[in-house]
Amino acid sequence: MDAIARPKIVNMDEAKALLSKEPELVVVFDQNVAWVLESLMGDLPPAKAYIGLETSEEDKTMDTVLALERQLMEADASRRALLVAVGGGITTDLAGFAAAIYKRGIRYANVPTTLLSQVDAAVGGKTGVNLDHYKNMLGAFHMPEFTVLCPEALRTLPEREFKAGEAELLKTFLLRDAIAYAQAVRCFADAQNDISGFIARAAAIKADIVSRDPYEQGERALLNLGHSFGHAIEHIAQEEGGDITHGEAVAMGIVLAARLSEKIGLAKEGLEEQIKADFEALGLPTQSPYPPRALGEAMRKDKKAAGGKVKFILLKAAGEPVIQELTVNEAIDDLC
Ligand code: GLY
Repeated sequence: MDAIARPKIVNMDEAKALLSKEPELVVVFDQNVAWVLESLMGDLPPAKAYIGLETSEEDKTMDTVLALERQLMEADASRRALLVAVGGGITTDLAGFAAAIYKRGIRYANVPTTLLSQVDAAVGGKTGVNLDHYKNMLGAFHMPEFTVLCPEALRTLPEREFKAGEAELLKTFLLRDAIAYAQAVRCFADAQNDISGFIARAAAIKADIVSRDPYEQGERALLNLGHSFGHAIEHIAQEEGGDITHGEAVAMGIVLAARLSEKIGLAKEGLEEQIKADFEALGLPTQSPYPPRALGEAMRKDKKAAGGKVKFILLKAAGEPVIQELTVNEAIDDLC
């Protein structure tokens, strides 16, 4: 595969300058944030089509992608079109995947409108949809032309989704910046604080990692801290009609990863307690509602499992991640 440059992150003014030079724009947006298009992007040249999406996790399927592809065809979108995805991670994952396969691939740009997508989902080119409630089972690496970091776009983000984004942001700092982790925990404790510096820092850390390993051959896997357990939690929740967001599942998954790190003697005792206390202070959930054995069953089918083994992302300490391959049984036995 071709080498990929560092993911490009721009502010809204830079994005507008880039978009105004495009000959053909198609906008795909989450209907809940239509106001971002009107209020923050209203002065752009008109797009060829504006396609609104429903964006629950249940809608993140191939059916939605196919409906989107048909709308692109009906709008006569050509191969030179730039698809602009405006919304959270579900929107940017769906739209990015649609762009990756439409006419064998058109370009796209992300305007993430949730904290979680600004620091993670919309940066780095992982696109895709779920299959039978298995997370992101179908997808493609397709790098956006750029990702727009616009703090104003978070203005209407519900509190619960904001919290979920904090979990993903703290995950990034747990990987590469223990000082920023501690500062962010303190800062998030007061909802009035300005967190735009932390958003920029987390997105930059992710962009650095992706630039060194765009196709997840090594280092990029670190970004899955909390995700092996988290995806299992999300999978069971969806099967059972439970109500758990991705960020919440990641928060619980990070706590389980910390516990496993201690149990196998990688981390000193106390890491799990510290992370748990930090997350609880911020109102993040820390306790999986499903027992370890049920998580193990779901993990066996995760796309990252191979031959019954999973590359768990564990921590020696905050800022010191380790990739550790374990069988699902080994991991679950340690947690039981
Ligand atoms: N969300 C993890 C990654 O982009 O690699």
